[in-house]
Amino acid sequence: MRRIRIDRPGSHRVLRLEEAPDPVPREDELLLRVHACGVNFADTLIRRGLYASARKLHGYPITPGFEVAGEVVALGAKVQGYKPGDRVVALTLFGGYSSHLCLPSDRVFPLPEGLSFAQAAAIPTVFLTAWYLVHELLHPRAGDRWLVHSAAGGVGSALCQLGRLAGCHVVGVVGAAHKREHALAMGAEVVIDRRREAWMKAARDHAPEGYQAVFDANGYTTLRQSFDLLAPGGRLVVYGFHEMLPRSGGFGFLRLIWGWLRTPRFSPLALTESNRSLLAANLSFLEHRAPLLRQGMQWVLDGFSRGLLRPLPVELYPLAEVESAHRRLESGQTIGKIVLIP
Ligand SMILES: NC(=O)c1ccc[n+]([C@@H]2O[C@H](COP(=O)([O-])OP(=O)(O)OC[C@H]3O[C@@H](n4cnc5c(N)ncnc54)[C@H](OP(=O)(O)O)[C@@H]3O)[C@@H](O)[C@H]2O)c1
Repeated sequence: MRRIRIDRPGSHRVLRLEEAPDPVPREDELLLRVHACGVNFADTLIRRGLYASARKLHGYPITPGFEVAGEVVALGAKVQGYKPGDRVVALTLFGGYSSHLCLPSDRVFPLPEGLSFAQAAAIPTVFLTAWYLVHELLHPRAGDRWLVHSAAGGVGSALCQLGRLAGCHVVGVVGAAHKREHALAMGAEVVIDRRREAWMKAARDHAPEGYQAVFDANGYTTLRQSFDLLAPGGRLVVYGFHEMLPRSGGFGFLRLIWGWLRTPRFSPLALTESNRSLLAANLSFLEHRAPLLRQGMQWVLDGFSRGLLRPLPVELYPLAEVESAHRRLESGQTIGKIVLIP
């Protein structure tokens, strides 16, 4: 097998392609030949040594990757319901940047008809994150107004689709003009380009009475304003802090410290008085809720099978060009997802 290995955190150069013996499935595992693996913003944090769950749950050396699509090669004695050759999609807590991978059967799902391996590998992380934020934490009502930051990115695109499905009115915010059409196609009714217009004023103009939900993974640059845009009863949904990092892919320690110091602190007294609140999640620390996440994945894949959800556009890179894939994601210019082909 071939896989990407990070021996210790560092620059793009630490992403090393290596050969290793093919893994052998345990009795409850499937051996997959990976045809595509999704790249997530979190993978770039793992490379930089800034992803808490990679340090706490795994450590280095590490192979990043949270999601794969491929075919079943072999099965452990206790696995039922699959046979060699089956097309599947799977969630994995690290290890996805590989040509072969063993996974417990409860992480593996039949691949919905009509999806390519690359389209399927782009689904698990971003759609499951969106599902968890929306249906486990938020519980939306039809007619709600949402503001979604980074609406053309991976999670942002999934949030726009889930908002449309739930009958909510979604205003998307994007950081570049070329992302506008995509965010509209994903379900945003209106898109604000924050490089060209004052996004806060435009957001207020689109919902003068405020938003029932604002989804924000920017961090300190927008969190306070996002909170100020909430209607009474509204929730600020926090799930990332990407603006704390430089788009060069470096560490930017001063920027990190500055971002940490500038991250707003919310007072429980003020939250209570204003009837506005915060929701937050990090899926990689939800291993203990595996059955719930499996339910979420089934909901998402069912949405694809029924044509209710649409695959995201994907940019493909050979596994050996993982460095270019990371640089591209870190540029902040992508639409949809980046996928590696082993
Ligand atoms: N909590 C969880 O469980 C969980 C799970 C998955 C992802 N996440 C988080 O969700 C966010 C989106 O992840 P994703 O994988 O779907 O990525 P993505 O949205 O496809 O890409 C990141 C987007 O963020 C914006 N951005 C702002 N500052 C950036 C920077 N310094 N570097 C790169 N991009 C920057 C850019 O969009 P605009 O310029 O258009 O805003 C960019 O397209 C990340 O913060 C990630 O850590 C959290």
